[in-house]
Amino acid sequence: MCGIIGVVASAEFKRERRLGTLIKQALKHLEYRGYDSVGFAIITYDGRLVVRKSRGMIDAVSVKLGFDELDGYIGIGHTRWATHGPPSDSNAHPHIDCRGRVAVVHNGIIENYMELKNYLMERGHSFSSETDSEVIPHLIEEFKKLGASPYDAFKAAVSVLKGAYALAAIDLDSPDRIFFARSTSPLVVGIGSSENYVASDIPAFLEYTRNVVVLRDGEVGYITSDEVHVEKLICGRAGHSEVSSELQVVLNALEAVPVDLRNRVREIDWTPEMAMRGGYPHFMLKEIHEQPQAVSSTLAGVASEVRQVAEHLKGVERVIVVGAGTSYHASYIGALLLSNVAGVWSIPIISSEMRWYLRSLGEGDAVIAVSQSGETIDTLLAVREAKKLGVLTVSLSNVVDSAIPRESDLVIYTRAGPEIGVAATKTFTTQVVALAYLAAELARVKGFMNSGEFTKYVAELRRLPEIIAGVIAQYEAKARRIAKNMVNKKSAFYLGRGYGLPISMEGALKLKEIAYIHAEAYPAGESKHGPIALVEEDFPVIFTALSDEEYGLIKSNIEEMRARYAWVIAVVPKINNVVGEVLKLASECIPLPPLNPAVAPAAYIIPHQLIAYYTAVFKGHDPDKPRNLAKTVTVY
Ligand code: AGP
Repeated sequence: MCGIIGVVASAEFKRERRLGTLIKQALKHLEYRGYDSVGFAIITYDGRLVVRKSRGMIDAVSVKLGFDELDGYIGIGHTRWATHGPPSDSNAHPHIDCRGRVAVVHNGIIENYMELKNYLMERGHSFSSETDSEVIPHLIEEFKKLGASPYDAFKAAVSVLKGAYALAAIDLDSPDRIFFARSTSPLVVGIGSSENYVASDIPAFLEYTRNVVVLRDGEVGYITSDEVHVEKLICGRAGHSEVSSELQVVLNALEAVPVDLRNRVREIDWTPEMAMRGGYPHFMLKEIHEQPQAVSSTLAGVASEVRQVAEHLKGVERVIVVGAGTSYHASYIGALLLSNVAGVWSIPIISSEMRWYLRSLGEGDAVIAVSQSGETIDTLLAVREAKKLGVLTVSLSNVVDSAIPRESDLVIYTRAGPEIGVAATKTFTTQVVALAYLAAELARVKGFMNSGEFTKYVAELRRLPEIIAGVIAQYEAKARRIAKNMVNKKSAFYLGRGYGLPISMEGALKLKEIAYIHAEAYPAGESKHGPIALVEEDFPVIFTALSDEEYGLIKSNIEEMRARYAWVIAVVPKINNVVGEVLKLASECIPLPPLNPAVAPAAYIIPHQLIAYYTAVFKGHDPDKPRNLAKTVTVY
């Protein structure tokens, strides 16, 4: 999963930066999408195509390659997360054709690249990388040899690709425009006052414009400094998957229809600051602190979507909630909410395991797909398969017009704003709040909840922003102190029951993914069935209970761990008898406001987020860019 950017500026575009610096800055905003190598290509004022690229992080590579020295009106850039070919200078993007006149940046996977590469090598093309992406500029070159215009050659090349791609390409033979194409991988256009952008994600150009067109699968086109042209590619994407020796056939069959953009331009209300750090040391800490606002915006924005979805779920017998990673933990909470608040049979399933349950699904069932990016390929595939079976599909996403919402029957959008940190925080809390709202709305329309109960429930949801802010203010210092002791640990258990279990799972994932400490979450009731064998003196065991009922079920487990001199941390509701007992048993007690357990997950995850964040920082890691991870997994 990578980040791409393209910029075309007119002479009137007032910028205090050279184009190389502007592209570098844009790539910095896309670093969370991958950062093992970086490069860019610019057409200089004197008409040369200059390509510079290298393995490494953006700041280091830009100094090494002199990004800031280069200027011009048009350029593309790329920050990479390796999929085909290891991180290396030659595998970095952009890739060029044999004649050095076309440069391309790509995010995604070209499934038929070997077939294309062999075909092109038979026609004399030489390749310098192991990547799948490099076939694209050579394909464009081949079609130009047949007399195609640069744009037609680009479209023809796209028409023979199979797989996922977001592309941007520049061509010396058409030096005033950037060609683009989208299939599965995200791509957006930014419309400036005297310049235009194409990028993987909105933060890349947010400081210059908030007017955005989210491109859709099968759309191709180009930008100039004052024009955005989009077409829907009609042919090729299926018909020419095998590259015939008749490229002319492909060219002759080329067909695309213009797309009307009048209703597609959205004004994004993310201020540039929202996509910047805002004074925090890391995006992740900023986003933890942003959760009150994110939850408040989500509650303010979801009502009509939630009502619509609840009406459609009214007659549904079974609801499968799917997601990956943190979104799976939100799905788990969603399934508990639907079962316990709305009285509908519901289970959570990890997206990549959904295929084994499809056979039993059909009309009358529903799937809720949870994905903050809306691009996770496993979750997208789960939705596609469910739809084939006539299952009602609902998606819950944080990115408008992203792939999963577009392929779902219904959608609920969280309003968390851009989440730049790789570790999910505010998107998780907004997901569970949206799901809690949905469960209550469904309970209401089914008559499970009367209007008085519904009003009380929603009022408690609406108190969450202030409650979350209070938890952060009250426990951030304690979390730092616990983190100081956590840095030397090699392993940890996170235990809970009911809603405490998915919160434990999410807390464990946070510690793993940013502090690189092995952490395992499992139902507290399972301790005696094996795991407790691992517990020895000072072994960290973190308990979470969201209600006195859940606490009552785990109290004996806390005693067992204490008896083995484990380092026990307990996140519990601030109920007198509970706190009194826990203070005697646990080394650290974090009493939180007692809430309806259905509403509590968004508040009870906060201490776990903070402990993981500060542990990572005290270990000297960058929580925003954890090793081996990317923000969105668009490759399976
Ligand atoms: C969580 O911190 C990770 N970023 C990762 O597990 C993430 O939740 C997962 O990849 C799912 O992403 P999605 O919500 O965009 O589908």
